[in-house]
Formats: sequence, C-alpha cells, structure tokens
Amino acid sequence: MYQAPRGTSDILPEDQPYWQFIRNKASEVATLFGYQRIDTPIFEDASLFVRGVGEGTDIVDKEMYVFKDQGGENLSLRPEATAAMCRAYLEHGMQNLPQPVKLFTVGPFFRYDRPQAGRYRQFHQFNCEALGEADPLLDAEAIEVAWRFYESLGLRDLSLQINSIGCPACRPAHRAQLMKYYEALLEEVCRECRGRFVRNPLRLLDCKEENCQRLATAAPRTADHLCEECRDHFVRLQAYLTAAGIPFNVNNRLVRGLDYYTKTVFEIQPAIEGAQASLGGGGRYDGLIEGLGGKSTPGIGFAAGLERVVINLKRQGIKPDSPAKPRVFVAYLGAAAREAAWKVVSELRQSAIASAIGFGGRSLKSQLRQANTLGVAYVVIIGDSEVERGEANVRDMASATQMVVPLAGLCQALAATG
Ligand code: HAM
Repeated sequence: MYQAPRGTSDILPEDQPYWQFIRNKASEVATLFGYQRIDTPIFEDASLFVRGVGEGTDIVDKEMYVFKDQGGENLSLRPEATAAMCRAYLEHGMQNLPQPVKLFTVGPFFRYDRPQAGRYRQFHQFNCEALGEADPLLDAEAIEVAWRFYESLGLRDLSLQINSIGCPACRPAHRAQLMKYYEALLEEVCRECRGRFVRNPLRLLDCKEENCQRLATAAPRTADHLCEECRDHFVRLQAYLTAAGIPFNVNNRLVRGLDYYTKTVFEIQPAIEGAQASLGGGGRYDGLIEGLGGKSTPGIGFAAGLERVVINLKRQGIKPDSPAKPRVFVAYLGAAAREAAWKVVSELRQSAIASAIGFGGRSLKSQLRQANTLGVAYVVIIGDSEVERGEANVRDMASATQMVVPLAGLCQALAATG
C-alpha cells in the first residue's frame, strides 16, 4: 500500500479546524500591520536559494530538493520564502513603490531534513517580509507581528529571544575571535561543530549538544564586537520593543541557520525546550537583495512554522471551533419520498442551510441513527403517504417534539429556526 512520502503528512479533516484557525489569524494580523499577501511559485531557479541562503548552510548543502525539468532547467522546491520574495520584489519593480513594501505569504516549503516530531520534509510557514527600510522601528514592528500572531492564537508561555549578529563591517573581528577561541577546543566540540568551525564558526554558538553549549557560554560574544551603527540599532530596537510591551531576552548565543542575516536576529520559543522548539524566527538581511543582483536594499522578516504551532495549540489544550455541522438531516422511506427528499435537501442547501440526506435505500431506523451521529438539530422525515399529502414530519432533536409542515413551506420554516 502506498504511504505519504517520509517526512510529509496528510492534513486530515479532524485537523483542518486548527489550520483554518491559524491561516485566518495569520492573515488578520498581517493585514492589521499593513502586510499584503503574495504567493510565489512552489519551485524556483535553484541558484536563487544557493545565492540567497548561502553555500555552506545546511539548507543549501543538504536539504534542497533540486531537480532538472524536461527542458533542462535546474530547479528547486522552495526551502524558504525570503529569497523568493526578494526575487519577486525585484522582478516586479517594487523598489519603485513607497517603501517599505510589506508582503506576507502562507504555504508549503520543502527541506530534505531528518524527520522527527516537529521537523518534516514538507512543512508550512506563515512568512512576512518588509523590504526597503533600514530603520530599527521596522525591526520592532516585524517582531511585533510575529508576537501578536502567536498571542492571537492564545498560545501562552512563549519567550522571544533577540540578538544582533552585526554587519559585514564588524562581523569579521568577531569571527576571528571565535576562531581563535574554538581552535584550542576542537577536540572537545561535537563532530558537527568541527564542520561548522570551517563553514561558519558563528554557528558553533547555537549547537544544542550539552558540552558545546557549555563551551559556548565562555565564547566571545557578538555584542562585544558590534560597530557603533549596529550597537545603536540594537539599543533602539530594544527600546521600541519595551515601549510596545513585548517581553524579550537578549540571547548573545542566538545565531540563525541562514547566511543572509545582518544585525537583528530573533526566535520565538515555547517554554518546553527541545531541539525542534523554535516556533518561528527571522531577522534583518540588508545584503540579500544586492546579493541577488538588485541595488542595495535593506529588509527584515520572519517565518512561523505552522506544524509546530499546531503541536503547541494541542499541547496547551487550545481547540479552535469546528466547522459548522449539518443542521438538517432529510430521511425518507419509499421511492416517491426519495425524490421529494432529494428536492428538499437541494432547496435547503440553496438557502445556505447545511443539510445531509440518507443514501443507499437504508432503513428509516438506520437513517435516524446517522442523523443522531451527525448531531443535526432537525430531522425531516418523508414517507410516500406524506408525499401524497404534500407534507413532511419535522423532528426537533433538542426537544424531541415532532410537527407536520407542508413541503412547500419547509425550507422557509427551517430557515426561520436558524
Ligand atoms: P527558519 O528558521 O529556517 O527561517 O524557519 C522558520 C521556522 O520554520 C522555524 O522556526 C520552524 O518553526 C519552521 N521550520 C523550519 N524547518 C522546518 C522543518 N523541517 N519542519 C517543520 N518546521 C520547520 C526561515 O525559513 C527564514 N526564511 C525566516 C525569515 C524570513 N527570515 C527573514 N525573513
């Protein structure tokens, strides 16, 4: 028997209310903050992500779904949204619009990751990007969108971690210090970190291995190497967050797995820790658009991982409303009654009254059992003799009372009960 590919899953009807709830909140909050919806293709030129996310990152080196199409184009399923949104910004001349241009999207992303709870090969993100403005007020606003999104879902006990990882002017000095510090410790760090030391020593700081974490506490901090501009940016960001009433922790060890970040980086985590804990994260990427061939344009954004949001909603016992159940079940007995019942159910639906009908010539008892299971408010019962009289029996399930209603006025009578 076929199964969904490893690391992917079906979102079954019983889980759809969570997804509907999350998508609605994402769209409400983004719109409230002036973000406009954009949808970019599921696949892009693979080199967009290689240039955007960066060679040497796990995403580019190990996780992209790259393929050649029939025309020989080298494409990749999108592993993230930021590079694609910057591509769209450039392609559609959005630099000529009033800045910042604020865009959001919700959809599936693909990474060839090792599947486990909270980590999948196809997953979904709510992603916001604000392009064309360097003001730290925009960093605060982007972080606030993320924070209010989780808040609007009713999630509790979340922590916001922020850091500044500097810019091309101040990062090399920090990097050199880090290399010096870790050079003497290469025997002690984990195997992964030995690789990170060569590729991007900054990433040793957020290794989840206990021993590496211990070593990271004494490592040189970015905060101590920020240039004046980056320091001022970070100080102002913190003041804006405080003024907006958003609690945060400055975490000097927070770095991110994508290469495009400059200055602000942030993550939102639930209280229950774990390697797959991060509910969402983002940061500023002032060099990305230039790296993709545009003129120097700053940007900031974040992405929330929606599977992890669902996990946390369930963990915290937050249940979204279920979609409306059918209000009416139309049961019948006899061939003429079936025809009349079919007309009734069709009319009810055209009047926007969610209704169900029995199938397969089942007994009246079995149809009533089905109506019970569906939890409808009313059951319409039609037999051949009712058809002859032009009537139907309507049972009110809550009061267990029954009355006779003319078929011609049935739809109106049921509409009046809503
Ligand atoms: P990211 O940290 O790679 O950032 O992903 C953001 C969120 O997506 C994570 O915090 C996590 O919740 C979710 N996520 C990532 N990978 C997986 C996976 N394999 N399975 C399940 N959930 C996952 C970015 O993608 C950046 N583009 C965010 C950004 C936007 N930065 C600036 N703008």
